[in-house]
Amino acid sequence: MKRQPVSFIILAAGLGKRMKSSIPKALHLIAGKPIILHLLENIFLHRELCNLDQVVVVTGYKAELLENVVGEYRKEIKFVRQKNQVGTANAVKVASCLFGENYQGNLAILCGDAPLINIKDIMYFMNAKLHDNLGVIAFNTVNPSGYGRVIKDKNGLALKIVEEKEANRGEKNCKLCNSGALLGKAEYIFQFVLDIEKNIVKKEKYLTDVIALANRAGKKVYILEAAETECKGINDRVAVSMVEKDLQITYRKKAMENGATLVAPETVFFASDTVIGRDVHIGPNVFFGNGVTIEDEVIIHSFCHIEGVIIKAKAIIGPFARLRPDTIIGKGARIGNFVEIKKSTIGPGSKVNHLSYVGDSKIGENVNIGAGVITCNYDGINKNVTSIDDGSFIGSNSSLVAPIKIGKNAIIGAGSVITDDVPDESLSLERSKQVTKISKTKNHFIKLKNKSSKRK
Ligand code: UD1
Ligand code: CA
Repeated sequence: MKRQPVSFIILAAGLGKRMKSSIPKALHLIAGKPIILHLLENIFLHRELCNLDQVVVVTGYKAELLENVVGEYRKEIKFVRQKNQVGTANAVKVASCLFGENYQGNLAILCGDAPLINIKDIMYFMNAKLHDNLGVIAFNTVNPSGYGRVIKDKNGLALKIVEEKEANRGEKNCKLCNSGALLGKAEYIFQFVLDIEKNIVKKEKYLTDVIALANRAGKKVYILEAAETECKGINDRVAVSMVEKDLQITYRKKAMENGATLVAPETVFFASDTVIGRDVHIGPNVFFGNGVTIEDEVIIHSFCHIEGVIIKAKAIIGPFARLRPDTIIGKGARIGNFVEIKKSTIGPGSKVNHLSYVGDSKIGENVNIGAGVITCNYDGINKNVTSIDDGSFIGSNSSLVAPIKIGKNAIIGAGSVITDDVPDESLSLERSKQVTKISKTKNHFIKLKNKSSKRK
């Protein structure tokens, strides 16, 4: 039997008042990625399983901002703007304009603020159960506050959904909550949405009223009970942190399952796109921003902050290193404590072990950068490049004023301020001569001491 195509409508027009933010709720970050992109990536990951047709995002509050970010992610996503945010039912009605009158596909209507919903499970449920009926995704929780409650009939089907504001005491005690996901044939859902009336308390049209209307029309509404972690809706900053927490637990587990050792997993934070090889060892209190790839057998000691970096196999990082975007750390290289590296390539086997800043630099193989070396990459107007060839040795506390090129196997004397290029195989140093004065009398310091104590 040919599977029906499935279209998604993502509701994301709301004001997100409880976020108290000037950006749309769906653009707040979780594990470094906008909330809504977690959801959309998951949909596109399962596009075959979904037999995916259209993906429509309903925008409203700061629509342009949201459309820019989502449009950049995928051109084929369509947008429809809901002028006034007068409820989730109205949002779906507005979206229905993008579907032909006789659209025969299935619909999955999801909330843009519940990003971890399990698309795979939704599809199995849709294909196995729904056919000519509707479905909702619900979850059990000890803290149902803020969610609509799913009221079952005696057969375990959904009879209605009651929003918390309208729920009586008995309904409030119900712990089965609506995830916000509604599934079923587009033609039925669009029809029921037209019949929804304004809620008198909130003066909004609730999409959840579809359930009671469907029952009245003789349709069954099946319930897929899912895990709370997959269904959590994000309404405020506390919820952002709770979903972040859940996601981090998943990422840590995945890293360990794939062969990484995390000494104190609860203190390591990953981005959604962190890639970690095997036998990687990560110490306590390490943060990964977006765009990090760590190859096999890398060691990352405690208290490192790493973003936009490729770390090649067997490199050793930290403790207390900050690696910034557009950086590549070569195989077996060593980046030590209190070192900051930005937009630079560090060649295989090279060492930057203590207290250095390396920015806009290209460092070859087996280079040794001494303690406290600074690449002076910024002249107040432009960022300039430092290049250090293979085998060079940069003495401690040197400043390399870019643009500058240090040749192969060159040596820079400690404490130098180097402003001119240094050729291959040469020694260059720049510092004033040391002055040492010998005391004329043997007990010079004792005399001085006595003098000052007499004055007192
Ligand atoms: C909604 C559900 C509730 C469910 C909860 C799950 C309704 C009436 N209630 O409540 O049963 O338990 O989600 O998290 O649906 N939106 C629009 N246009 C609007 C209003 C909202 O697009 O006019 C969007 C929002 O941006 C949001 C989603 O719809 O992404 C849900 O709206 P929200 O106000 O967060 O509803 P909840 O109160 O959380
Ligand atoms: Ca919500």
